[in-house]
Amino acid sequence: MKKQVTGIFLLLLALPGFGRGSSDLGAQELKGAESIINHYAAQNFAAGDITRAELDTILAAGVRSPSARNRQPWHFTVVRNRTLANQIVPNITEGNILIIISAAGDGKTNGAEILDCALATQSIYLAAQALGLGSRIYTGPINAVNSRFKGDLGLPNGYSAVALVRIGRLPPGADAVSGASSRKAADSMVTYK
Ligand SMILES: Cc1cc2nc3c(=O)[nH]c(=O)nc-3n(C[C@H](O)[C@H](O)[C@H](O)COP(=O)(O)O)c2cc1C
Repeated sequence: MKKQVTGIFLLLLALPGFGRGSSDLGAQELKGAESIINHYAAQNFAAGDITRAELDTILAAGVRSPSARNRQPWHFTVVRNRTLANQIVPNITEGNILIIISAAGDGKTNGAEILDCALATQSIYLAAQALGLGSRIYTGPINAVNSRFKGDLGLPNGYSAVALVRIGRLPPGADAVSGASSRKAADSMVTYK
């Protein structure tokens, strides 16, 4: 636990514009925010299965996501078949799973369902990392999913894929401080009134 708390301090201090205020918080207060801030898109995965308990926990986070008027306009497709996963994301690592988040509708509107699915995507992405797994969000393959793989994936009628999350085990030594890309300075994107 001490190592994780130290990790979040390091990451916060590394974020431009966030060093002073965040480090004024105690370790216990920061602990709750850890998995929300201390994440990164995994670039490499190690071979190894995701357990059923891990998968159920990750899916629970998706199912529990907030949505406009609580309409829950999503469907989650878990792809464990490596051949199919490889057709969607090339060079998949053994044991990786894909969770495809689909929205009710044609997937081309800017309606609330897209935002709802984005939140579910983020919940799944963060839950995987909170369990110590690697995860990465992809939208690059989504056009191909919708044009070629809806049948193979058994997407419900009237649903279109919006995003997918790749989840897998991490190689030793991967961590948020060395793994994450930099961010723009907080001063350039935050206004106080
Ligand atoms: C909506 C969205 C779509 C993304 N699509 C892809 C993708 O198609 N392929 C990919 O390799 N990474 C994709 N990513 C991962 C981003 O490149 C990554 O989150 C970003 O560079 C920040 O990396 P970091 O969190 O490790 O710092 C996507 C991320 C988001 C949020």
